[in-house]
Amino acid sequence: MPLLDPYRPTWAEIDLLALSANLRAIRARVGTRPILAVVKANAYGHGATGVARALEKDGVESLGVALPEEGIELRRAGVSAPILVLGGFTPEQADAILQHGLVPAIFRPDQVAALSRAASTRGVEAPVHLKVDTGMGRLGVPPGDVPEFASVLSGARSIRVTGAFSHHAVADDPADAFTRRQIDVFRECVEAARQRGLRPEEIHLANSAAILDHPPAWLSLVRPGLILYGYPPSTNVTPLEVSPVLSLKTRIIYLKEVAPGTSLGYGRTFVAARPTRVASLALGYDDGLPRLASNRGHVLLRGRPAPIVGRISMDLTTVDVTDVPGAALGDEVIVIGVSGGERIGADRIAAWADTTPWEVLCGIGSRVPRLFVRGEARDVVSRFSVP
Ligand SMILES: Cc1ncc(COP(=O)(O)O)c(C=O)c1O
Repeated sequence: MPLLDPYRPTWAEIDLLALSANLRAIRARVGTRPILAVVKANAYGHGATGVARALEKDGVESLGVALPEEGIELRRAGVSAPILVLGGFTPEQADAILQHGLVPAIFRPDQVAALSRAASTRGVEAPVHLKVDTGMGRLGVPPGDVPEFASVLSGARSIRVTGAFSHHAVADDPADAFTRRQIDVFRECVEAARQRGLRPEEIHLANSAAILDHPPAWLSLVRPGLILYGYPPSTNVTPLEVSPVLSLKTRIIYLKEVAPGTSLGYGRTFVAARPTRVASLALGYDDGLPRLASNRGHVLLRGRPAPIVGRISMDLTTVDVTDVPGAALGDEVIVIGVSGGERIGADRIAAWADTTPWEVLCGIGSRVPRLFVRGEARDVVSRFSVP
């Protein structure tokens, strides 16, 4: 790891060849439909600018972020693909949306007013996607209000509705009829918007789960997130040949023998039952290992499992290496990744911590440097500059 020598020995490796292969696998599933790659939340923890640049090189048609700030970060990094701001914007952010060439979701009359005003001041037309709530219940115009809102939009002279979208609530359960209903309701809403004079061309609904199991939701483009990063959205879905893009690695920074009866960590939740070799790892819950995996999960070193003992804290984790012959200070430790024929995926950590792979990946904090790897090419992106 020569490139990382000046850093604390904890890093995430992002395999851009795996990312490319996952994108190709999604393309093979959805045919000629364009792909809007979801890169919000720092590209699910993988590093938004590195991932977006790589996807752009691989020909992805557009990108999705949650916030205008995330879109601006990508523009500042030189990303020129269309960027849809899935979570919309506040009226105060209207001018920044235009300045950075972002396409926002729109679902509130005050957004229409603010964006229309900002666009006419600049003498431009603002493209937007109408967000409809077909059953997720978080954001979007309720179906019954679509005709009225569409009229407001078609009356706004500096706004052009280039797309319309909605979001699935239970697409990861292929047996749930709610998904079919969402698709039908969405189609009706798009039709209602057309009757009020809107001409959206990009009509979209499909997240990872719908890409796998609900072809009627594919419409005019698809919006994969989790499968792009190599994980299925649930164990119930039809599999797709994708592989995890991110590995999370650290090193042993302290090693000791403790006697039976010795306790470890906050709350003294682990007490050694035997003479135990304990390794302290340079990573904690701020680095992506959830506290709920304490005393449940394990890491891999020298091709063997080492159980997590005691509470995972913010910056440090203790593991039992008694059964790992030769474990030594400085050893590389796999937290997410493969070693000795065993893989620990974000989904496995999620099971230990009673959460989801989305949350595990997003939980890898900003102080963990991301090392982008494409074959021999390596590029480190860190919040901290090299001393
Ligand atoms: C609006 C929207 N579309 C698409 C996605 C991608 O979802 P997934 O990661 O399940 O593919 C998300 C993620 O939460 C989202 O919020």
